[in-house]
Amino acid sequence: MRVVFLAPLYPPEMIEYTRGLAEVGAEVYGVGDTPREALPARVKTYLHDYLQVPRIMAEEDVMDRVSAWLRGRSIDRVLANWEPLVILAARLRERWGMPGMSVDAVRGFRDKQLMKERVAAAGLRVPKSRRALTERDVRAAAEELGYPLIVKPIAGAGSADTYKAESPAELDVIIAKMRGVGEASCEEYIDGEEFTFDTVCIEGKPAYENVAAYLPKPLEMRSLEWVSPVIITVRDLLQPRLQGGIELGRKVLGALGMGTGFTHMEWFLTPKGEAVFGEIGCRPGGAHIVDQMNYTSDIDLFREWARVSCHGTFKADATRRYNAGIVFKRARGQGRITRIDGLDEFVKLAGDCLVEEQLLRPGTPRRNWKHTLLSDGHVLVRHPQYSEAHRLSFAAATDITMYAE
Ligand SMILES: Nc1ncnc2c1ncn2[C@@H]1O[C@H](COP(=O)(O)OP(=O)(O)OP(=O)(O)O)[C@@H](O)[C@H]1O
Ligand SMILES: [Mg+2]
Repeated sequence: MRVVFLAPLYPPEMIEYTRGLAEVGAEVYGVGDTPREALPARVKTYLHDYLQVPRIMAEEDVMDRVSAWLRGRSIDRVLANWEPLVILAARLRERWGMPGMSVDAVRGFRDKQLMKERVAAAGLRVPKSRRALTERDVRAAAEELGYPLIVKPIAGAGSADTYKAESPAELDVIIAKMRGVGEASCEEYIDGEEFTFDTVCIEGKPAYENVAAYLPKPLEMRSLEWVSPVIITVRDLLQPRLQGGIELGRKVLGALGMGTGFTHMEWFLTPKGEAVFGEIGCRPGGAHIVDQMNYTSDIDLFREWARVSCHGTFKADATRRYNAGIVFKRARGQGRITRIDGLDEFVKLAGDCLVEEQLLRPGTPRRNWKHTLLSDGHVLVRHPQYSEAHRLSFAAATDITMYAE
């Protein structure tokens, strides 16, 4: 089994998928813009070969270079788990006549307006929305959809440039901020709680499912620096309040023609109990959610994804044993981390329930919390009872304080 895997070491968790592929017996042909000489030893051991390209986002150029590189060798799969590269992987599959999702199917997971149109056409509940190319389109959408209004890039990720406008005056400010964005999606604001629905699919059917709760919703995580964002995987997927979202998620996979691989969907649970579609990607979620899923069941989804992608089987026992909560911290002040307060006490409180602690150490420069949810590091806890996982997560959120200067 020969697999072309795009960006095998960036973002860093891609190294784990590269490992997974090697562990299920694939010969991995990595393609990325990291210089060959800079490949860390732990990635090299999993790579059969590697092609360095000048710019991984330059689709035409990458397609030409990869085709020339692999001429004469038969390739079985082209895979990518990083959002900006899922279309490129599909274009390579089409060029080489390879199995896997088509460009058209992948576009349904990448273009937020097309996605909602396809999901709505299947009779599922999506926020009302309009595609906007110009300022005038945005104002026309606001007239039609009313306030609050969500405005975001069509091909967005990381809640970058996603805004909520409560009034025409706020919309003016947002329009000014979004001058660099080519195409926007304007949406009806959906009130309620927000969850994920994650899967590993075989030909569109989930071999694995997960739901995680966002506390608070990502828009607030990304706009309020003082918040310590918490995400908790839910152990009990059979509870009634989640059924609407899980059923919605399964139907969305059908509506969009999902093939084989990871999906990461976001959905809203309104105060009336209705599940409303948010968005979906045909790739794993970021910000350690795959680690959280692994901690939920003591499994290795990096490897299971590889097995599914190469051999069409899922082997792990995914019995859900824990609720796994991750808490991202943001230091007070700018510059370098100087001090972490409350950590020793938290470590004592959490005991065996603390499974990871990766807060940035004093002396390390702060990360840009607007650019990455990882912020200044995280702690990860787990507990068989949701209420306990929730209590420990919020103890970390409120009782650990990081400082920088
Ligand atoms: N129609 C909506 N109603 C209410 N909230 C919304 C709506 N659309 C987006 N949001 C909020 O904004 C967040 C970011 O939007 P979205 O997920 O579409 O963008 P994104 O850039 O892909 O973000 P991420 O990469 O963080 O998932 C959502 O998680 C949600 O909290
Ligand atoms: Mg999102």
